Amino acid sequence: LHLEEKYLQPETKEVNGILMTKMISDNWDKIWNFQAKPNDLLIATYAKAGTTWTQEIVDMIQNDGDLQKCQRASTFDRHPFIEWTLPPPLNSGLDLANKMPSPRTLKTHLPVQMLPPSFWKENAKIIYVARNAKDCLVSYYHFSRMNKMVPDPGSWEEYVENFKAGKVLWGSWYDHVKGWWHAKDQHRILYLFYEDMKEDPRREIQKILKFLEKEVSEEVLDKIIHHTSFEVMKENPMANYTTLPTSIMDHSISPFMRRGTAVSSPDPMALTTAGTQPSLGEVAGIPLPATTVDNW
Ligand code: A3P
Repeated sequence: LHLEEKYLQPETKEVNGILMTKMISDNWDKIWNFQAKPNDLLIATYAKAGTTWTQEIVDMIQNDGDLQKCQRASTFDRHPFIEWTLPPPLNSGLDLANKMPSPRTLKTHLPVQMLPPSFWKENAKIIYVARNAKDCLVSYYHFSRMNKMVPDPGSWEEYVENFKAGKVLWGSWYDHVKGWWHAKDQHRILYLFYEDMKEDPRREIQKILKFLEKEVSEEVLDKIIHHTSFEVMKENPMANYTTLPTSIMDHSISPFMRRGTAVSSPDPMALTTAGTQPSLGEVAGIPLPATTVDNW
């Protein structure tokens, strides 16, 4: 895998007022016209909300806890990231998705109003995961330092302002969690919280099982919980993004699997904005688990 210099720290360009990479923007018609299928499963999140974690849980469920099968490829090859556009010969999300046999599990960070309409038309199942703004912000900042496929975040102070103004890739966190929250009543959407998954992974995995109409034995459920814990995933090359060259993701700057904690554990970086940010609940009118409201 070789990315030419000019594709690193890419230019950005808005689509419908939402900041995207220029490559996504230039390819937007194709993305918008993506053909979903009724048996697709889409994992939708704002960036850094626990996408990879949810992908691993879903893959383990779909493979009945077979670790070998879940080791077949890296996360990003197992589940095409539909809007992610790369220069040929690299595989863009659309190419991967169109090549993949059904049933497919796909990933997106698109805000709800920009989801290709075929997903609604085909009534595909969607799992949305929300994470509190403070942890998303901190995680996104460190991720943008280590991942050369997204723009440089600049200084922490600059980044906080850009994040609050929604001037980051995939736009405003506030609009994202709120938009998807309202969509969940009209569509087949399971809306989960990262903080709930931390608090009780068994309970949240059971919600996913029910949504997917799957059953597994207690033994397999225990295996899924163990295999998808932060500590185990951090050491799993097929889930921790270390199969990419360091020219793309440099884990010595900040590991992809960085902390994996919820807001209740203080983060020195995050505390610089403590008290100034509204909580996820306040902003979006969303009932929140107590763990995220405490220590905001
Ligand atoms: P931190 O940077 O706060 O550690 P995404 O997959 O959406 O990009 O989100 C990445 C964030 O999810 C990172 O957050 C990462 O550590 C965390 N994460 C990944 N796997 C996890 C797991 N099994 N348990 C808890 N957090 C996890």
